[in-house]
Amino acid sequence: MKSILLVCLGNICRSPIAEGAVRQVLDKAGMTHIETDSAGTSGWHVGGPPDPRAVKAALMRDIDISAQRARQVEAADFDRFDIIAAMDRNNYARLRELQPDGSTGRVHLFLEFAGELPVREVPDPYYGGEDGFDHALDLIEQAARGLVTHIAARARSG
Ligand code: 4NP
Repeated sequence: MKSILLVCLGNICRSPIAEGAVRQVLDKAGMTHIETDSAGTSGWHVGGPPDPRAVKAALMRDIDISAQRARQVEAADFDRFDIIAAMDRNNYARLRELQPDGSTGRVHLFLEFAGELPVREVPDPYYGGEDGFDHALDLIEQAARGLVTHIAARARSG
């Protein structure tokens, strides 16, 4: 297990935050060798920075995502990354459509790793207010901790 790709629709709100949150938990756990990246299933914002509301909400939790730039998921990602985690079911379904036969990456719903939560999707905060970003961060940080615990346990069991 050496690489994780976080995926949403635009790659400017949820998945950049998730990349930053997973990176923060990995680094705090000394797991700096694990690669992280994020991408969108759409190409709408390719090359652009994260939404300013996402940057601001993440910075409140000491997560700096300002240097990230949006890109679109590509076929090579399904072999390059071990875990490909979608923020919601639409993006999960799109990833399954895009996944080349025989590729090695495993597609998950990101909140599968969040444990006891009544929801399995990070709601899209793009069209809402700033509190949507704060709620997304709550869900994302919980899943980030669960994901890193999962990876650490797998590393220990070989
Ligand atoms: P994200 O949010 O998928 O969390 O990055 C969105 C960003 C942009 C759009 C939709 C969702 N959009 O319609 O442009």
